[in-house]
Amino acid sequence: MARINENYLKLKAGYLFPEIGRRVGAFQKANPDATVIKLGIGDVTEPLVPAIIEAFRAGVEEMSTKQGFHGYGPEQGYGFLLDLIREKDYEARGVKVENDEIFVSDGSKCDSGNIQEIFGLDNVVALADPVYPVYLDTNVMAGRTGEVDAAGHYAGIVYMPAVAENAFNPEPPEGHVDLIYLCSPNNPTGTVSTKEQLARWVEYAKKNDAVILFDAAYEGFISDPSLPRSIYEVEGARDVAIEFRSFSKSAGFTGTRCAFTVVPKTVMGKTASGDEVSLNSLWNRRHTTKFNGVSFPVQKAAAAAYSPEGRRQTGEIVKFYMENARLIREGLSATGLEVFGGENAPYIWFRTPARMGSWDFFDQLLQKTQVVGTPGSGFGPSGEGYFRLSAFNSRENVEEALSRITKASW
Ligand code: MLT
Repeated sequence: MARINENYLKLKAGYLFPEIGRRVGAFQKANPDATVIKLGIGDVTEPLVPAIIEAFRAGVEEMSTKQGFHGYGPEQGYGFLLDLIREKDYEARGVKVENDEIFVSDGSKCDSGNIQEIFGLDNVVALADPVYPVYLDTNVMAGRTGEVDAAGHYAGIVYMPAVAENAFNPEPPEGHVDLIYLCSPNNPTGTVSTKEQLARWVEYAKKNDAVILFDAAYEGFISDPSLPRSIYEVEGARDVAIEFRSFSKSAGFTGTRCAFTVVPKTVMGKTASGDEVSLNSLWNRRHTTKFNGVSFPVQKAAAAAYSPEGRRQTGEIVKFYMENARLIREGLSATGLEVFGGENAPYIWFRTPARMGSWDFFDQLLQKTQVVGTPGSGFGPSGEGYFRLSAFNSRENVEEALSRITKASW
């Protein structure tokens, strides 16, 4: 019999979102008439905008012609999309990125999960706690941790509590770490790092020869012009940071799949004997070996998100979700809850009423209001006693959810 990768056995139960799905499924089976409102997983609900659909259709049409047919494309993405990403996402904000530093992919979940493959197993990983579970779980699977303790901490990981007391923005650790996962706008806390805060991380990474893995999948939800949308807006970040971006949430691509990762050629790692190696060349090697590229029509659709019409239309949808976020934030605050995030991010994070455990609150919320959220402890031990609601839903459902929550007592 083949031996398994026993690191998988160190993982706690299932992945967070399927576990929520399982509990909701059981509730629905037992209460078939209940109208459940899902504000749990951050999955978009509004349809793709017309400019994107038009480009998507045109891409499919092109594939039906002899001249326009595309077989395998470049694994890193078509030039037409790379050019737009470089110009509109980066040059327009004064950031220099080259086309061969951009890798188009099918999602930031995959990229932020796979990136650890190009690093040695003996690197020390630092993570915020709570954190998007993919960063941690993929390091556990790879064998970069020991076992989990009763509190939910894996041996070998440096946890950086992100709690109300530090405004969900932990400072760089005292000691040395090699790999640092940062996420801003943050999933799950909905808070956003300032340029000064990111600059402290860049400084730390430079001093410690560390690499920052910066997840900016929610940058499209930032409306405050003083907040950075890319870590490369911080001087020196090109030497120490890899950045993940996605069309999933800001352009409605969760079911369509398109994202990209930027690996500057100036970010280096080293071999056991101390020789410097470009991480860009390693990621390129991995990407071209294990990934076949995003389909031509999908890349055409993603490119349309940058046209003036595409920008305007996707911008309207982002505004719509952010109005949901405002309603949730203000609605929860009005009930006396302590609420965070939701101003430049589509997630609202709050302390559970009466300091209830996160999963207890999940169950009570489902039973009493048929509203689904995400328990804070599912993102890490320091998320215990917190809860996350997502702003992705119809206005009608958000208003109904709030009215049910407001009437409930805990
Ligand atoms: C979330 O709800 O945290 C996100 O939907 C997860 C993801 O984008 O993979």
